Amino acid sequence: MKQVLMLILLTIVSLIGCSSNTDEATNSAVLRIKEEKAEEKSLDQMKSALLSNGMLIPLGEIPIPDDNPMDKEVVELGQMLFFDSRLSGNNERSCATCHDPEKGYGDGRATFETVDGGEGARNSPTIINSGYYTTNFWDGRAESLEEQALGPIENPDEMDQPLNELVNELKAIKRYEELFAAAFPDGITEQNIAKALAAFQRLIVVKDTPYDQFLNGDSNALTDSELRGMNLFAGKAFCSTCHQGENLSDNNFYNIGITTEDVGRFAVTGEEGDIGRIRTPSLYGISHTAPYMRDGSLETLEAVIDYYNRGGDGHPNTSFFIKQFMSPLGLTYEEKADLLAFLNVLGGEPPIYSKPELP
Ligand code: HEC
Ligand code: HEC
Repeated sequence: MKQVLMLILLTIVSLIGCSSNTDEATNSAVLRIKEEKAEEKSLDQMKSALLSNGMLIPLGEIPIPDDNPMDKEVVELGQMLFFDSRLSGNNERSCATCHDPEKGYGDGRATFETVDGGEGARNSPTIINSGYYTTNFWDGRAESLEEQALGPIENPDEMDQPLNELVNELKAIKRYEELFAAAFPDGITEQNIAKALAAFQRLIVVKDTPYDQFLNGDSNALTDSELRGMNLFAGKAFCSTCHQGENLSDNNFYNIGITTEDVGRFAVTGEEGDIGRIRTPSLYGISHTAPYMRDGSLETLEAVIDYYNRGGDGHPNTSFFIKQFMSPLGLTYEEKADLLAFLNVLGGEPPIYSKPELP
């Protein structure tokens, strides 16, 4: 029976031809079958099934690039730069304006506020765990935090500060000259500003949540409701099709059906199939980072669950998997509550870094 079902599913998947998502879709389809067979699972059965589910693995140490080790001097300098509004053209905005530690390292707004007070193009994402991604930004257009860091400084809507001017401004501050010299052999350069910012951001991590503790063998780390929520996450609700692996992101790009003009990944690749696709975000820290999605259109996690439950909003390029298997999900009131309880576990406790004394 299992084989026949699998064969049918695999055929559907290959007939509809969902390009790069085929593997994920197939994996999850297989999981779905396992799930259906075991509908009446007891909590103990759920536990052992979830522990042997290869898609959910505890989060390890953040990867550190060889050419930017976490030297104390570099990280401390990065923290200063992160909170220093002199990095912006009008000296009024720092990275922390939009990535505020007290707001889950986002800004609590649907989309960011531009320098002249208008609505920015996208939601300011949290930077929690952003060093675990293989690409950065909602559309993955930067390859690393080092590559990402200079973007917002130069962006006329965000900080509006030409980099060559910034280097000169910082050179005029004697203490910054000393601190850069202690951190890097070549002192104040654009690249070293980026390296320091990136290194500091690698401290902003949520891990070791009860979810991780459960996966690491503490079978009592989750309440019954949270456990049922995790079971839904990996089964009936299909979340782990994309929110999977370390950091709960497959680092792939999908269109989950949000109706907006934002072309997402298409702007990077120029391929029509990528219209509206966005990199799967991590869910670590998620309970601290409302509102949600790249347009900030969903205000709460309850709204996110309702969104997926209705199968999305039907963007014409909605990814195959959502259209095929999640439209709608049919979660009951109780199941929604359990899934929410599980998402709240992933929220963990983000470390709060505050503004240091600036040079
Ligand atoms: C005016 C608001 C604003 C400021 C100031 C700002 N950012 Fe951002 N940040 C954003 C927005 C909006 C995005 C998403 C842009 C996109 O994906 O197109 C973003 C994306 C990011 C990301 C990518 C996260 C991910 O999920 O991959 C990182 C990291 C980041 N910013 C760090 C910084 C740093 C470092 C600074 C200071 C040098 C900074 N930001 C300044 C609004 C801001
Ligand atoms: C087909 C892949 C896919 C599936 C399945 C999926 N997600 Fe997502 N998820 C994404 C992508 C891509 C985004 C970003 C979309 C955007 O911003 O336009 C996202 C965004 C989110 C966000 C908001 C993150 C933020 O920082 O704003 C949450 C929360 C979330 N998903 C939870 C879930 C839950 C819960 C499920 C299961 C019911 C689920 N996802 C199923 C790909 C997926």
